[in-house]
Amino acid sequence: MVTAGMKKTILITGGCRSGKSRHALQLARNSAGKKFFLATAQVLDDEMAERIEKHREERGDEWVTFEESLDLKAVIETLESDPQSVLVLDCLTLWISNLLMADASKERITREVNELLDSCSRFPGTMICITNEVGAGIVPETPLGREFRDLAGEVNQRFAGQFDEVILTVAGIPLKVKSGSGSETDQSLASDHEFSSDKKEGLYDAIYGRRDVRQFKPDPIPLLTVEKILHAAHNAGSVGFMQPWNFIVIDDLEIKKKISKNFSKANDEASRHYSDERKELYSSLKLEGILEAPINICVTCDRERSGPHVLGRNTVPDTDIFSTCCAVQNLWLAARAEGLGVGWVSILSMEKLKAVLGIPEKIVPVAYLCVGYTDHFLKQPLLEKVGWGKRVSLENLIYHNQWNQSSKGFL
Ligand SMILES: Cc1cc2nc3c(=O)[nH]c(=O)nc-3n(C[C@H](O)[C@H](O)[C@H](O)COP(=O)(O)O)c2cc1C
Repeated sequence: MVTAGMKKTILITGGCRSGKSRHALQLARNSAGKKFFLATAQVLDDEMAERIEKHREERGDEWVTFEESLDLKAVIETLESDPQSVLVLDCLTLWISNLLMADASKERITREVNELLDSCSRFPGTMICITNEVGAGIVPETPLGREFRDLAGEVNQRFAGQFDEVILTVAGIPLKVKSGSGSETDQSLASDHEFSSDKKEGLYDAIYGRRDVRQFKPDPIPLLTVEKILHAAHNAGSVGFMQPWNFIVIDDLEIKKKISKNFSKANDEASRHYSDERKELYSSLKLEGILEAPINICVTCDRERSGPHVLGRNTVPDTDIFSTCCAVQNLWLAARAEGLGVGWVSILSMEKLKAVLGIPEKIVPVAYLCVGYTDHFLKQPLLEKVGWGKRVSLENLIYHNQWNQSSKGFL
């Protein structure tokens, strides 16, 4: 995982289709700064053009892509980057092949490699280079093939020697083969309580891979899994250990139909706030999966639980609602780890919801969740994908010491 603002050089090596690029993108996604992708592939035919386009789409809009087959250092040197930026270079082996095909001599390639290594070390943010383990197969038949294999092996050694971290991907599994300066090894000395890289990766996978899901498969959810996600919710922090939540698990179709009707009415009313193109876009969005999801869960807050005075709630009474939201987030993340999608539906009349579910007057429904398996988790929020909204740059949201005071130089 790339930690925001930490300079690091990472080499990812492995066989074809071993998951190198995917792992590089996973590592980069935590970066708060600009994300650059430098592709060395040349578009030689339609198949290649199609593959490149597909990869570009998968990366999404937050990436700025450059295509350069030979002069990589020139691109790196001109990037407007800072310590929070991340650059993925994909890949070194194609670059070497491009140089060979351009009739570059071994001396020129050695010089280019040295210059590229210098550029990588000067890059202020995190540099992730992808390469291939080409030497593991049979001996190439042609002299050019053997020259390429040998050069690729030597270049990999140079980069691996100089870079902080080296990761080998095998059948989609990343194995860290070198942990160097600025890496987890050093940090783990700072705290006995730090998670191992695998555990951290799992946690961050749940955080960054969580999505609001509105499309569900009808497959039933094993009860044990439902219990697990409710347990996760119940282990959230709560003000004064108040645990103000209840979870109403709904699988009755008739009840779901009533709530679906409630949604349709509330949604029609909500759509009146928009006009023209925005209204058209709003109306095209699927904003719930009440009927499809095998279960719905209504998470409520009992504002009087633990009596009239709750430790820590004296000054901010809404901390009971905040606590319930923490439980929802735990459930959402645990569900993601279990492969379950969760969609939060707030476009509902809460009064009607309470009546249908028999919720007492003093209890507040905080979240109405649709839960179930799904065919896919979108890479980016649906609202971002359809152009409704954009993720705000984290950089602009962090202040230093004072409201509105830039954190540049600190982070
Ligand atoms: C409190 C809350 C209420 C939400 N209500 C709805 C809703 O009624 N319908 C819907 O489609 N999404 C709803 N969402 C989901 C957000 O639209 C979604 O979280 C946001 O667009 C970011 O996408 P992501 O969750 O996939 O990252 C809600 C989310 C939260 C936190």
